[in-house]
Amino acid sequence: MDWVREFYSRTGSWWAKADARVTDRDHRRVRLLHDHGGDVGRVLELGSGYGATAAAAARAGYSVTAVEVSNRADVTSGLAKDVAPGSLTVHKADFYELDLEDRFDIVCYWNGFGVGSDAEQRRLLVRIAAEWLRPGGVALIDVFNPFVWSRWDGDEEHLAPDAAAGYDHELRERTSFDPVMCTAIDTWWETTSPDRQISQVLRCYTPADLALLLTGTGLTLTKIVVGDRVLSPSPHPGMGELLREQHEYLAILHHEPDQSQAVCPTG
Ligand SMILES: C[S@@+](CC[C@H](N)C(=O)[O-])C[C@H]1O[C@@H](n2cnc3c(N)ncnc32)[C@H](O)[C@@H]1O
Repeated sequence: MDWVREFYSRTGSWWAKADARVTDRDHRRVRLLHDHGGDVGRVLELGSGYGATAAAAARAGYSVTAVEVSNRADVTSGLAKDVAPGSLTVHKADFYELDLEDRFDIVCYWNGFGVGSDAEQRRLLVRIAAEWLRPGGVALIDVFNPFVWSRWDGDEEHLAPDAAAGYDHELRERTSFDPVMCTAIDTWWETTSPDRQISQVLRCYTPADLALLLTGTGLTLTKIVVGDRVLSPSPHPGMGELLREQHEYLAILHHEPDQSQAVCPTG
């Protein structure tokens, strides 16, 4: 995972001017915290990027701890100037290495889960259950959907600069999908520097595969949120949103302190 800090720092340097702000996407995420985690409480946000969602959640009354390894973390304090003192703490750190004393009511990871091997993903899930969530707490984790990412295999994009919107760089993107490893490889470069390509490699999981990955971690998949729909992890043959539309879905995971009580959903 050596590429992580470099990829998100460099892409952040291209996009922060335009993207480091609170938008409807962050307000939607705060509603999801309310709907699935409760109205108030302590939130741990992993991979918080620029920190826009963390700032919106702190403003909504949550007590937020945000962890971000890349230079994107450097802009978070600027987004959170008006939040109540003490309601947002930012750690510029690797969440695999960081030790936190606190326990949280909610752990969330928006648009980032799937960086690394299955073993690393499981290590993170075990940390969430065993070290960070209070017993009975809930984890909200966006998961990349292989059905949609695989449809993007071979796609190429050209992004022209848009100075008025804050996008100063002319960029190219190439997406490919590895059906053996079930990973999306998303490669970016500046048009002027084709020799300086950077890629993010994203492990994608179907809901059924995620339920398998969770086995023995202390977390149980109880619901998935696909667009505006909240579903149980049960059969949904032909479901177009997951087959063709949504490149990620939100997994709602409940903490089962006693492993013997953890039941993997079968339908
Ligand atoms: C695709 S970005 C999403 C950022 C933010 N959650 C959002 O939705 O805008 C994923 C973020 O996770 C961060 N990240 C990945 N692995 C991490 C790790 N081990 N420790 C801390 N942050 C990590 C990356 O640096 C990146 O900023």
